[in-house]
Amino acid sequence: MKKTILVTGGTSGMGKAMALALKEAGWNVVVTGRDAERLQQTDLDLQQIAGEHAVIQMDVRDPEACLAAVNQTRARFGRLEALINNAAGNFICPTDELSPNGWKTVVDIVLNGTFNCSHALVKGWQEDQVVGGQILNIVASYAWQAGAGVAPSAAAKAGVLNLTRTLAVEWGYKYQARVNAISPGPIERTGGADKLAMSPEHAERIRRNVPLGRFGTPEEIAGLAVWMLSDQAGYLNGECIALDGGHWLNKQPF
Ligand code: HXC
Repeated sequence: MKKTILVTGGTSGMGKAMALALKEAGWNVVVTGRDAERLQQTDLDLQQIAGEHAVIQMDVRDPEACLAAVNQTRARFGRLEALINNAAGNFICPTDELSPNGWKTVVDIVLNGTFNCSHALVKGWQEDQVVGGQILNIVASYAWQAGAGVAPSAAAKAGVLNLTRTLAVEWGYKYQARVNAISPGPIERTGGADKLAMSPEHAERIRRNVPLGRFGTPEEIAGLAVWMLSDQAGYLNGECIALDGGHWLNKQPF
């Protein structure tokens, strides 16, 4: 029987690439997002691929909406095995100029949103007696390094990385679930690239700091996600894989 996966923030960038690739790989795919127009376009794009899918409008900051999305998915496909916590929010702002609500907004999307969706998912696992489910989280290398100028995102991603490891142990024992993470480097055609590479000069500086000399693509992230969620990766648990061309290891960029 086909397995079902829910991808948050799946209407653009890496989320959309992962959704399309997972449908190609034979999953039933459910995409959530906040923007109705983007959801409609994603629905059309997913229709080009054989199989079943659905789109749901929701905000990961709303725990009840997360539970409703999981229950809607279970009603449609019988059960929900897997989740990609891809939805994120970010902006560059010096921390001493950041408002408390700016901090809260990013932490709410990234860290609390990951918890909200994971918690809703496990309620479904309990009701449907799902064993061997999966969660894939998206972090960034500033989860374990410094994130000057993006403090709320860095702190939240650090939380998500810890939650990845914590749930890998807790839900590994309890549900034989696998919980892993990807740490993408600079990836083209993403919200992160649009927001963080502020000018062509800045983007060029980032590119030069990548040992492989280029940005990654959403499709490369999607390829890794498909493998991490496959049976081939059945012994992978609590791991974070950096797919970044060696970017974070490059301590001497000059
Ligand atoms: C300072 C800012 C700001 C900015 C927003 N705020 N943008 N402060 N500089 N550039 C403050 C606002 O003033 C407000 O605080 C608070 O944040 C909430 O802003 P809203 O616009 O009302 O929030 P909302 O509409 O919910 O939008 C959330 C958002 C937005 C995060 C601000 O950008 C968004 O929805 N982003 C989703 C897509 C995204 O960001 N993708 C990139 C992910 S990149 P006050 O005090 O005024 O009320 C990523 C990692 C990349 O995750 C890593 C690459 C290596």
